[in-house]
Amino acid sequence: MQLPIRRGRFESCRLMPTSNLTIVQHPLIQHKLTILRDRETSTAQFRQVLREIAFILGCEATRDLALGDIEIDTPLETGRFPYLEGKKLCFVSIMRAGNGLLDGLLDLIPSARVGHVGLERNEETLQPRQYYFKAPDGLGTRQVILLDPMLATGGSAIAALDLLKEKGARRIKFMCLVAAPEGVQAVSAAHPDVPIIAAALDRELNEIGYILPGLGDAGDRVYGTKG
Ligand code: PRP
Ligand code: URA
Repeated sequence: MQLPIRRGRFESCRLMPTSNLTIVQHPLIQHKLTILRDRETSTAQFRQVLREIAFILGCEATRDLALGDIEIDTPLETGRFPYLEGKKLCFVSIMRAGNGLLDGLLDLIPSARVGHVGLERNEETLQPRQYYFKAPDGLGTRQVILLDPMLATGGSAIAALDLLKEKGARRIKFMCLVAAPEGVQAVSAAHPDVPIIAAALDRELNEIGYILPGLGDAGDRVYGTKG
């Protein structure tokens, strides 16, 4: 199906008709994603490039943060200038692989708060099992950005979004690198209020729930736990 294309200020965006998906097509993101997809990319380079791409994707994910203004003295004049207002935003990483995106986002917004959700997919059922949760207070008054490089079946993202809403979060975005159509549809159906920001919409899932062409197992590639 031909997807509608909307041109944005920063890049063009593709939106699936029944989802909240935005694909960020900035050339640096697309270039870096190719490096991440390459099986020859070393663990050290994978980690570094993931951090860099997270920084750029983070600019898109935070483009609508509310601005107020404050009075400051420049070396020449006093004036009022734009300044982020409201409570500090909160990044929530879906472990393990989400932690690989976290560093780049904290480079972008060092004062952000951070939460962690530990989820692991069962290799046979593909259902996520929760093993950890910790998040800052006041989730309901913060912009929350949930992080995971991979959106495959959508089970992990949906479980994390369910949990965050149960803990009071109201304004949530989901940021990933590679999304499968199956995952986008599932998350959009379960959480229609949650925008999804991704670097690519890939073709499909294979029979064991991996994204094609994808980049492999993101956690293993970030931490070098296989091969
Ligand atoms: C991977 C990935 C996502 C999940 C996506 O994590 O980082 O969390 O799979 O799959 P889904 O959309 O079908 O739920 P995994 O469960 O392998 O855990 P890990 O990060 O610890 O390797
Ligand atoms: N999790 C991953 O890390 N990669 C995939 O392709 C699917 C789920």
